[in-house]
Amino acid sequence: MRDCHLEVARWLDALQVDARIDAAGNLRALYPPRSKAPRLLIGSHLDTVPRAGAYDGVLGVAIGIALMEELRGRELPFAIEVIGFSEEEGVRFGIPFIGSRALVGRVDRELLKVQDAFGVTIQEAIENFGLLPSDLPEARLKDNTLGYLEFHIEQGPVLERLNMALAAVEAVAGQSRIELTFSGSSNHAGTTPMNLRRDAIAGAAEWIGVVERVAQETSGLVATVGKIVVKPGAANVIASEARLTLDIRHSSDDLRTGALENLLHQAREIAARRDLSMKENILLDQRAVAMDPLLVGIIEAAIAKSGSTTHRMVSGAGHDAMILAPEVPSAMIFLRSPGGISHDPKESVEPADVEKAIECGLHLLDLLASSPEFMKRTRLA
Ligand code: GLV
Ligand code: MN
Ligand code: MN
Repeated sequence: MRDCHLEVARWLDALQVDARIDAAGNLRALYPPRSKAPRLLIGSHLDTVPRAGAYDGVLGVAIGIALMEELRGRELPFAIEVIGFSEEEGVRFGIPFIGSRALVGRVDRELLKVQDAFGVTIQEAIENFGLLPSDLPEARLKDNTLGYLEFHIEQGPVLERLNMALAAVEAVAGQSRIELTFSGSSNHAGTTPMNLRRDAIAGAAEWIGVVERVAQETSGLVATVGKIVVKPGAANVIASEARLTLDIRHSSDDLRTGALENLLHQAREIAARRDLSMKENILLDQRAVAMDPLLVGIIEAAIAKSGSTTHRMVSGAGHDAMILAPEVPSAMIFLRSPGGISHDPKESVEPADVEKAIECGLHLLDLLASSPEFMKRTRLA
């Protein structure tokens, strides 16, 4: 992340814009520098997933900087703050959106105590990076913030199917993330009869099948077991522990939480029948979030002005915009994802679509600057 910050700071340097890193490890850059004008935030995240593609997150930061560059010193009635968020994906600590939570005061003492796989807490990770957790309040949104915009690849096949370059996002689906541990007894794989086993992997496997079936049978529900860690982990030893993650999402919060309850109930039943113990740790319960209707409408107008057809859609992926939305008007612009591929090295984007997004972004800035309704709504207004 330090190398990433240095690289992005170099791009900003060319525009004579300084980058600073806030206490949550977010990169922040203000245009014009030191402006006291109300702020429009443009950002996305700089972290990513293992074996990732090159665009999920960082493209939104690059487009924010490209817009600063295209303005070529021109001043708008608002300042632009570009933000490159840290820890959006939740890979290291199991909890996503840590960077954007800092802007809305949601990095509290409990969160700072959460540990990574090596027992390093978020508090320690911040300190090891050379930052001070006591400075977190300074990362908070300023009262004169007008809104937050996030450009992001769609990460799905919809726009490609529609033959469209861009879309306005009207809502982001809710998601839960859970860590679930089945515990049994390790024993010899050759000598322990099948009916005398307490096999944690077999219990976990049965439940993973249930997860897939429930999601397949529930319209709009997506559920993923993306990680499983077993102990002791040898071919000739029955596993005493299987720890897995569940990521479950739906645009309806009631449906998501109902499905989760059902899956946890079934996990308890499987564990009881197999004489295993089971415990769950809820890492995330993030509600679905609507984007700001005024901003969504202006984004659609900007897309039309850039010569593209407009489309509104719900995002199945989570985004920093859903964390900021309860405190400041927020909206997103999606760029078509070739092949609908993301979270994979084959993730890509068409250069022509990026050009369109920048063109749309410039129209958007002008439309916002001339919208009295937009200009009067700061965070506190
Ligand atoms: C972010 O990539 C997410 O998991 O939705
Ligand atoms: Mn991602
Ligand atoms: Mn992302």
